[in-house]
Amino acid sequence: MVAADVRALSTALDAPDFFAHMDPAPSKIAAKLVGLNAQYNQNLLHPDLSPFATKAERRVIDWLAPIFGMSDGHMCCGSSVANLTGIWCARESGATRVVASADAHLSVAKAAHILGMDFDAIAVDQDGKLDPSELKDLSDSCLVLTAGTTARGAVDPMVQTIAVWTHVDAAWAGPLRLTKFRDVVSGIETADSIAISAHKWLYQPKDSALIFFRDPQASKLISFGGEYLTVPNVGVQGSRSAAAIPLLGTLLAWGKQGLAQRVENSMKDSETLAHFLKEHPETNLCGWPQTGVVNWRPKISPILDVVQRLGNCASITNISGDVWIRQVAANSYVDIDEVIREIEKALQ
Ligand SMILES: Cc1ncc(COP(=O)(O)O)c(C=O)c1O
Repeated sequence: MVAADVRALSTALDAPDFFAHMDPAPSKIAAKLVGLNAQYNQNLLHPDLSPFATKAERRVIDWLAPIFGMSDGHMCCGSSVANLTGIWCARESGATRVVASADAHLSVAKAAHILGMDFDAIAVDQDGKLDPSELKDLSDSCLVLTAGTTARGAVDPMVQTIAVWTHVDAAWAGPLRLTKFRDVVSGIETADSIAISAHKWLYQPKDSALIFFRDPQASKLISFGGEYLTVPNVGVQGSRSAAAIPLLGTLLAWGKQGLAQRVENSMKDSETLAHFLKEHPETNLCGWPQTGVVNWRPKISPILDVVQRLGNCASITNISGDVWIRQVAANSYVDIDEVIREIEKALQ
């Protein structure tokens, strides 16, 4: 009964026309391994309750962290928590203020609020990137840069400043570092910490994300030990699932090449769509997609009517106070010609 409802009433993330959100269908091997994880129900809080899972996480971190210029880290349930973790490290290092672009994900302001820090939003330029000329004295601050904003996929310039701590929210675009588009996120290696959603462009089932640290000692800033624990509890969560196992399975099955190929194909799909929208007489494209996020508006038909006709093909977002259609290249099973046909129909 429950299973039947799940099958009947879930959004098909792998449908040929699904091109709407940052949520890909997970890798098949990952989906299988999640079932195995549930069966064994390991807890990363206690190494004796997760002998293999703890090793698997170490292996994943040791494999991925150096690709981003980082040396340590751990997995957590999402990038809201990964951002909170990075900003918590900043506060423990003396930062009292969080500075981020006005287009940073809401979890950044939320983390500042939870941690009792001030929050300053910095204006973005016309491409949706943080404008470095707007930055003031950062000597008391945690600077949060975004690599792939939620609304537009914009990548902030990876500026080097005197901030106490620089955290990069690379929830969406971080995996470009594994691809031929690595230069889009160049400079990310100068960060103190980086958040990446494995349940976005690393094709993992939710809840799966990574927080990386440049300094191998950084996790000591956010470690609590004692009482019943044999090893310190690092980070925001207590009990943690073995999310590293499906990620390790995916990395071993696909290799760096297989992963990169899927993300590169998605980047190509977003370019194909952008070309179509740029040439179409009845659509306005909002800048060229930087990291697979395409924003556009119909010139004639009311936007909300078009969105309704597009169904799962598109989402909407707000850019500088205006509603724009947002289409995200996350689905590796998409047929971009089918998406374009749906747009043509919706515009009629
Ligand atoms: C840029 C960015 N950062 C952080 C998050 C939060 O991630 P999560 O939903 O995994 O908590 C998102 C979610 O879409 C995001 O787009």
